[in-house]
This record gives sequence, C-alpha cells and structure tokens, in this order.
Amino acid sequence: MSVITSAVSTASDEFKRNAAEFQTLLDDLRRRRRLARVGGEPAARKRHTDAGKLLPRDRVAALLDPGSPFLELAEFAGDEMYGSNPPGAGIITGIGRVSGRVCMIVANDATVKGGTYYTLTAKKHVRAQQIAWQHRLPGLTLVDSGGANLPEMAGIFPDSGQYGSVLHQLVRQSADGVPQLSVVHGACTAGGAYTPVLTDQTVIVKGQGYIHLGGPEIVQAATGEVVDRESLGGAEMHTYRSGVTDYIANDDRHALGILRQLVTDLPARPDPFSPPETPVPPRYDPREIYGILNSDTRVQTNTREIIARLVDDSRFEEFKRNFGETLLCGFAHWGGHPVGIVANQGVLMSDSSIKAVQFIDLCCKRNIPLIFMADVTGYMVGREAEVGGIAKNGAKMVQAMSAANVPKYNLVIGSSYGAGYMGMCGRPFEPHFSFGWPNGRAALMGPEQAATTLSIVQRRKRERLGQEWSEAEEEAFRQPIRDQFSSFSNMRNFAANLWIDSILDPAETRMVMSLVLDLAARVPPVPTSFPILRM
Ligand code: COA
Repeated sequence: MSVITSAVSTASDEFKRNAAEFQTLLDDLRRRRRLARVGGEPAARKRHTDAGKLLPRDRVAALLDPGSPFLELAEFAGDEMYGSNPPGAGIITGIGRVSGRVCMIVANDATVKGGTYYTLTAKKHVRAQQIAWQHRLPGLTLVDSGGANLPEMAGIFPDSGQYGSVLHQLVRQSADGVPQLSVVHGACTAGGAYTPVLTDQTVIVKGQGYIHLGGPEIVQAATGEVVDRESLGGAEMHTYRSGVTDYIANDDRHALGILRQLVTDLPARPDPFSPPETPVPPRYDPREIYGILNSDTRVQTNTREIIARLVDDSRFEEFKRNFGETLLCGFAHWGGHPVGIVANQGVLMSDSSIKAVQFIDLCCKRNIPLIFMADVTGYMVGREAEVGGIAKNGAKMVQAMSAANVPKYNLVIGSSYGAGYMGMCGRPFEPHFSFGWPNGRAALMGPEQAATTLSIVQRRKRERLGQEWSEAEEEAFRQPIRDQFSSFSNMRNFAANLWIDSILDPAETRMVMSLVLDLAARVPPVPTSFPILRM
C-alpha cells in the first residue's frame, strides 16, 4: 500500500492561524461536554445523593470494568431545547465493557425532571437500542424515571421511533437473542414500568426502586384505595410476592454488582469475523488536522492530508487516482481493520460519482466497511453537467451507497450540503454511526446560497407586481436567511437533534472509529444486492 507523504508545513502562518481558530471550537466542545456531564440542578442532585442513591454517571462508572473506556453517545441531545435542562435529555447512553463484555448502557438521570422522557430522551433511547441491536450488544438499562414527561406527549407517545419503540425493541431484541438486563434504581411508573419488566432479568434496589402502573395518588383517585408506595410497587413486594423482579439488592452498588454477575453469565462475546491486523499509528500527528482544516470555509481542504493523519501508518491505496479526482476512494487500515474510504476533494461530478459506484461495489464484494468523509457543497450543477448525466450518475452513487450492506460510517469533516449530504451517507441512509467534527456544517445549501436563491425568487415576484425593492430592503431580507442556515448547519444543532451520534475532536476520531469498527467486525456479514443501476 502507498504511504501518503504530507506536504503540510506546520510552521506556516496559515497553519498556525487555522490551528488557533480550531482551538476555539475545541474549547467550546470541551466546555459543553463538561456541562453535559453535570446532570440536573444542584438541589436535585443533593436530594438524590442524600437519599443514598448514586448519581447516574457514578452508576455507569461502578458498572464498567475498572479503567475501561466509555464511548458516550448523543451527550448533546436536546441541548438548549428544554429550558434550563442540561444537554443530554435526561438520559445517558453509551458503549462500555462490563465483566469483559462490550455492552450498550442506558441510564436515566432522575436529577433532570425526575428522569422523565422528553421527545429527545425517547429518540436517544431508541437510537442507543438500534446501535446495540445492529452490533448485537447486550442492553443494560438502569431505570430511574417518572416515565412520560406529560406535556411532551406528541413527541413520545403516538409514533414509531418514540417511547413505544423502546418497548417494542426490547421485545424484538430479546427475541432475536440480544440479551436485555435491567436494574430498577428508582421510579418506574406507568408505561415506563414496562421497561424493566420487558427485559430478560431485572434487579431492584430495596427501599429505593419501585414499579407500578399507577402511583398511590392515581390508585386513590381511581379506586379509592389508600396504599403506600412500598406495598404498591416496592422491591420486597415485587421480589417476594408479585414475582415482577428477579433479584433484590441492598443499594445501588450491590445492584450493579448483581448486574455485572448477570453479564458474566451471558454466552461469550463473538470473535471478529476477520481478525484485525496489529494497528499502526499514522505517520503524522492527528492533532495536525486542526491546522489543516482552513478556518475560511470557502477554502477546499486537501482531504489526503486528513486521511494521512487518521489511517494506519498513513497508508492509503487509492483507487482510480487519476479519474474523477473530486472524490478520493481507496483502501486503508484503521485500528487494524480494513476500510474503504470515500472522501470528497471538491464538488461531486459525473466521473467521481461513477468511480464511487465501482468502489462501493468492490467493498461490498470484499466485505470491507465504508467510511464516508464528507466535505462537499453538493453535486455539480449547470448545463454541461446535466448533459453529462449528473442526475443519473449521482443517483447511481446514491443507489450503490444506499444498497451497500457493509458497515457504513458518515464523518462530517467539513461541509455536507444538499444532495452531497445524501450521497455521502447522511443520516437518512442509516450509517452504523454518524459523527461530526466541531467545524462541520450540513444543510440544504450554504447560508449565502440560500439567501441568494430566496432573494432572486423574491425579486422576481416583486418585479411581477411592479414593486420597488431597494438594496437595503434586500439585505434586510437576506440576513435572517443567512442566520437561519448558519445556525441550522452547525454540528451543535445536529447533535442536539440527534441527527449525528456525537461531535468528535478530530484527534479522538481514530480511537472512536477503531472501537466501532471492532464492534461491526463481530457481526456476520450481510450480502449486498444492488437495485437496477441506470446506465
Ligand atoms: N411530566 C412532567 N414533569 C414531571 C413529571 C411528568 N410526568 N414528573 C415529574 N415532573 C417534574 C416535576 O414537576 C418537577 O419539576 P420542577 O423541578 O420544575 O418542579 C421535576 O420533574 C422533579 O419532580 P419531583 O416530584 O420534585 O421529583 P422526585 O424525585 O421527588 O420525583 C417522580 C420524581 C418522577 C418520581 C415524581 O415526580 C412522579 O411520580 N411523577 C409523576 C410520574 C407519572 O405519573 N408519570 C406518568 C407517566 S405516563
């Protein structure tokens, strides 16, 4: 395999300027991560710990194998959407090792509005389950939730992909042989009561966890029966009498110890189908990416320089290097795993699209995961491009990418606009994971293009009606459009809405991707059949 030789001068003024600008983005990312990890208001946290309960992050830490990493997902879900609530939507999701076994962990945060489910809470829980199912990871749910956040009914109750899907997926995954285990640490009420009861095995904490379809107040209102919480749904009642729970624990730590033992008793973790080679670090420091990504978003990044700082030994065997040069396709190893990389190096043209089709086909035949590194303003427009069949060639690329059944990943490393967002395996095409860098931006089109498009439409309409439109008026019309597209396209917005799984520091991307490639390598390959490709 060929080694990429870097031409970057880390001493240049441009590099230093870019790196300094990127540092601002990284500082913001780290600050937001710290905020997201705090949890609810101090008073709510104090009440929680005063009651002898572990905070949810401490529960996760106590569950994980000591010193092992935890890949937290969607930590910015719901950011700035729910008043003073911190980012994270009141639930923690992530991948970590428990008793030597990699699992998906889902933990309610009762310090954020009683752990109740907002729209994004439900979406985040469902997404974590999807990832777990796709990779056949045991699901461990640490329940401490008041169930539905009642005013959020429209976003959690009626539709697929909402809270009901959490229950549906628990059932289907268990039936499919993906183990589901749970601990009831606190509240577990109404529809939410079904969450632990639908898992394979349930632990409950004495004097702290309770499960009931209707709380004491509802029971009294409905039937007149006066009953206390413990006898209605407490740990002893459910473990010794109703049989709803299987194990009783004295406190949170004891419960998590029982859960670790239950994971130990699961069948062994599957071996990788194709064992990875020994990982070799890139020849160039991934932190140099900060200085390579130009702070002027109009300047095209040399994506080869990015690849050189991510893949093993900076080795990249380019496919059709001299054809369709606005798209780099090539084979590499990433953390020892073979990968096919599809990376933009300009606007998508007919030739680059066709090249992608052949490359994706090769990867599918050889069962090689595909990593789409998006930095694209879209597919080429204009008469020449249309005559050259950009519509059918771009469509063929979408067909190949969409039909490919090998593991697919979407990394937004720069722009990801319009149909380019689709062609580079944007979220609607169900990549195994999608991540964005802090400089990433994605939208129907760029802010300036959107302002121009809409002002042309507006000007034409005014001309038709014989109305004047001064330059100042036009500018006043354009600015809010720019602002809207600019804030929409920010990866923070994508992370808050769960359109990506996380925002990554470029320097941690290698490690995160190595982990998820390892997960995918343990799942049986699925053959691909392509649709009718238009010629
Ligand atoms: N919907 C919306 N908000 C809710 C809520 C719900 N189902 N349950 C609790 N909250 C809010 C409370 O209003 C409170 O908000 P505030 O801090 O702005 O005042 C916050 O969550 C914490 O509730 P609080 O009761 O103070 O905390 P707690 O730790 O003592 O108890 C619960 C938490 C969830 C156990 C308890 O509030 C409860 O039983 N809620 C009702 C649960 C229910 O019936 N759900 C129906 C699901 S269909």
